[in-house]
Amino acid sequence: MKRLVILSGAGMSAESGIRTFRDMNGLWEEYDVMEVASIEAWHKNPELLLRFYNDRRKQMINSQPNRGHLLLAQLEEFYDVQIITQNVDDLHERAGSSKVLHLHGELTKARSSKYPSLVYQLDNPEMKMGDLCEKGSQLRPHIVWFGEEVPEMDKAIKITRSADILCVIGTSLNVYPAAGLVNFAPAGIPVFLIDPNPPAHLPRHIRVISEKAGAGVDILCQKLQDAV
Ligand code: OAD
Repeated sequence: MKRLVILSGAGMSAESGIRTFRDMNGLWEEYDVMEVASIEAWHKNPELLLRFYNDRRKQMINSQPNRGHLLLAQLEEFYDVQIITQNVDDLHERAGSSKVLHLHGELTKARSSKYPSLVYQLDNPEMKMGDLCEKGSQLRPHIVWFGEEVPEMDKAIKITRSADILCVIGTSLNVYPAAGLVNFAPAGIPVFLIDPNPPAHLPRHIRVISEKAGAGVDILCQKLQDAV
């Protein structure tokens, strides 16, 4: 089976009703990213961050995977589909994708603010001050914030290096190191990019599908079929 590696971003979940970050009406228009998604902000105002991610979590629970997520899950019948996502929602998993690597963390989990290896599945979507890990430290959202390392990056690079086909979906490619992953794809493999408003100045070998994720993945499936 050929390995199809997907790098997804916020645009993947836009049709599920989850706001992107940098589009018009994106989250970072309403919030200052450094006030709600940085390690400094956690030290300064942890209540605010718990509230911010509680809201994101509730929105995720009330959202459903869209056609793009579902089609990617179906592609597992024909490809070894490896999804590397910058998204913290669980919509790829709920659509049925079995190999999903979360670069920026997961809303469904909490971890100890003092012992990063203590990670817990959340039963209650509402996190609050006083929720403690088994060693007595405050729990925090299991999210990679600005100013923190991206622990899954090495794994993501390895997966990207092993790709036969790469497809980037719904990311502005603004945030590093995630955005740099495309540079690790083996030379000469087909690289697709699905985005209704693709980033400017893309390398010429990237085949752009200027569509939203749902319609775009449909076109990708046709193109992959034609290539067989
Ligand atoms: P952005 O909000 O930066 O980019 C979203 C991309 O999705 C844009 O290129 C849009 O054109 C595209 N888009 C919008 N609607 C779409 C749709 N229906 N289908 C497909 N594409 C669509 O989001 P990311 O690139 O994912 O990190 O942002 C990267 C990181 O920045 C996030 O993981 C988050 C954020 O700060 C952290 O918080 C650590």
